[in-house]
Amino acid sequence: MKKITAFIGSARKKGTYLAVNELEINLKNIGNFDFEYIFLNDYNIEFCCGCKLCFDKGEKLCPYKDDRDILIEKLEKSDGVVFASPSYAFQVSGRMKNFIDRIAFIYHRPRFFNKIFTAIGVQFIPFGKQTQKYLESAGRNLGFNVLNGTTVITPEPIPEKQLKELQANIRKLAIQFNQRLNDKNPCKPSLFKIVTFRMTRSGLQSSSIKLYDYEYYKEKGWFHSAYYYDIQLNLFQKFIGWLSDVLGRKLFK
Ligand SMILES: Cc1cc2nc3c(=O)[nH]c(=O)nc-3n(C[C@H](O)[C@H](O)[C@H](O)COP(=O)(O)O)c2cc1C
Repeated sequence: MKKITAFIGSARKKGTYLAVNELEINLKNIGNFDFEYIFLNDYNIEFCCGCKLCFDKGEKLCPYKDDRDILIEKLEKSDGVVFASPSYAFQVSGRMKNFIDRIAFIYHRPRFFNKIFTAIGVQFIPFGKQTQKYLESAGRNLGFNVLNGTTVITPEPIPEKQLKELQANIRKLAIQFNQRLNDKNPCKPSLFKIVTFRMTRSGLQSSSIKLYDYEYYKEKGWFHSAYYYDIQLNLFQKFIGWLSDVLGRKLFK
């Protein structure tokens, strides 16, 4: 049975919940899933104070002893992860953003490569997808295998036409999410991801200052690998990777 965890950035059980619940129903119609809701509102997540200890010296040194690690464990124990947030002022809710800030050290030391991630943006205005796009970028930066998500429109009360549209959107997402969960092939990296990986690792390796991330990269064997995980690069990708290594070494020396 696959474990799916949905992180919800709304304090209400309204539009965002409706969309996530629809995803749960559709997934359970297709297969066997253990589906968990994480209402971020129910967890104690302090505001990041910006000390950067998590980046520079390790996340264990964070001054806050709150629920951050409980939530990270939820991410680690999932096969599939959903970030769902209402749009507030054309962006994710503060609740969701604060959660992302608190785990942003993982952007420096990514993981979750074999887990599937998707995003649901929930909003009133029927155009723009900033919330969904931001959540997808967070998923990619954390290391997930990201399936592009969806944006749903939830006026209150929601008219029949919009409800039908929401249901159709989420049904499609559930089918794609299930397919991606069953796809055994590793996610193909974009050229941008290859460039950032290779420049970062070469920069870390050649820099005289040994940053905290250096040990993580060393432990993972990333100073000698083509990418974060085992993947066959084509000739062009290999060339770009080599060039990025050269650039990374020069820039961060
Ligand atoms: C503070 C605040 C800001 C909002 N800003 C936007 C916005 O910029 N664009 C938009 O389409 N909807 C905006 N909305 C509407 C919500 O995104 C919409 O009502 C959504 O359904 C709320 O999710 P919920 O029902 O799960 O709470 C805003 C709502 C609030 C409370």
